[in-house]
Amino acid sequence: MRCHGDLVNCLSCGIILIGLWHFVHHRKTQTSYGRHMVVSPPARTVPARLAWFLQEMPALLIPLLLTLTPHKPSSVGKYLLLGTFCTHYFLRTFVYSLLTRGKPFPLGVMVAAGFFCSLNGFLQGHYLLHCAQFDDEWSADYRYKTGLVLFYVGMAINIHSDHILRKLRKPGEVIYKIPTGGLFEYVSGANYLGEIVEWFGFAVATWSLPALSFALFSLSFIGPRAYYHHRFYQEKFKDYPKLRKALIPFIF
Ligand SMILES: NC(=O)c1ccc[n+]([C@@H]2O[C@H](COP(=O)([O-])OP(=O)(O)OC[C@H]3O[C@@H](n4cnc5c(N)ncnc54)[C@H](OP(=O)(O)O)[C@@H]3O)[C@@H](O)[C@H]2O)c1
Repeated sequence: MRCHGDLVNCLSCGIILIGLWHFVHHRKTQTSYGRHMVVSPPARTVPARLAWFLQEMPALLIPLLLTLTPHKPSSVGKYLLLGTFCTHYFLRTFVYSLLTRGKPFPLGVMVAAGFFCSLNGFLQGHYLLHCAQFDDEWSADYRYKTGLVLFYVGMAINIHSDHILRKLRKPGEVIYKIPTGGLFEYVSGANYLGEIVEWFGFAVATWSLPALSFALFSLSFIGPRAYYHHRFYQEKFKDYPKLRKALIPFIF
């Protein structure tokens, strides 16, 4: 498949705009799932495990299908970057979804998330396979190495924090408790902080507009959510740790 450069630029700008739109539109209320779910009018819901599996799957499947289309054989570094993206979505699709103890998901939110994952999976996969020009020297570049280290540090924080949250509930429970341990000692949105570090690391490692657009989208989507989670904890728990911040340790 040839590189559709204009499409790549359009989709990247589109993703940045969706992120900005979300940031502005959801200043007062967050996307309606989890603790921010609007209960009235009642929405049609899907069990959390099925919803996470279905909505995240396209971001794994589409890049994998794109590897079957003709593309120039390339450096190991390029495949490592694609593998890095797919590893995240493999874990989200097959591990996170299987383990989650979250509330059922509104159908509309699941469909929107699935659409976004399809778009983003195509954008990142097509760009890396058909457009990016990574030679072997890129694998030695400090941006590539630093970016990958950031990505995997972020991923470790994200997985560890999601694990802490999951362990707060017994099977069948839907209550909220104060998370402790790991980066939750410093911020209420430790899992979100990990995810944001991951995608900015990926943007540095690929040094590309598509990856930057997804990092900016993630920041606009889950950054405010971390703030609203923080406010929720402060309102709900009188003994909530005073020094804990929302997203950035000691700062915000
Ligand atoms: N890249 C992106 O743009 C993006 C966007 C969205 C999500 N994500 C990632 O997807 C993952 C899940 O996101 P999310 O928004 O669902 O995260 P979340 O609101 O922190 O919830 C994660 C899970 O833990 C449960 N939980 C959270 N706080 C809890 C507490 N205090 N006590 C007991 N259970 C608690 C939630 O249950 P409930 O569902 O019942 O609240 C949910 O099952 C995260 O790793 C996030 O980084 C990424």
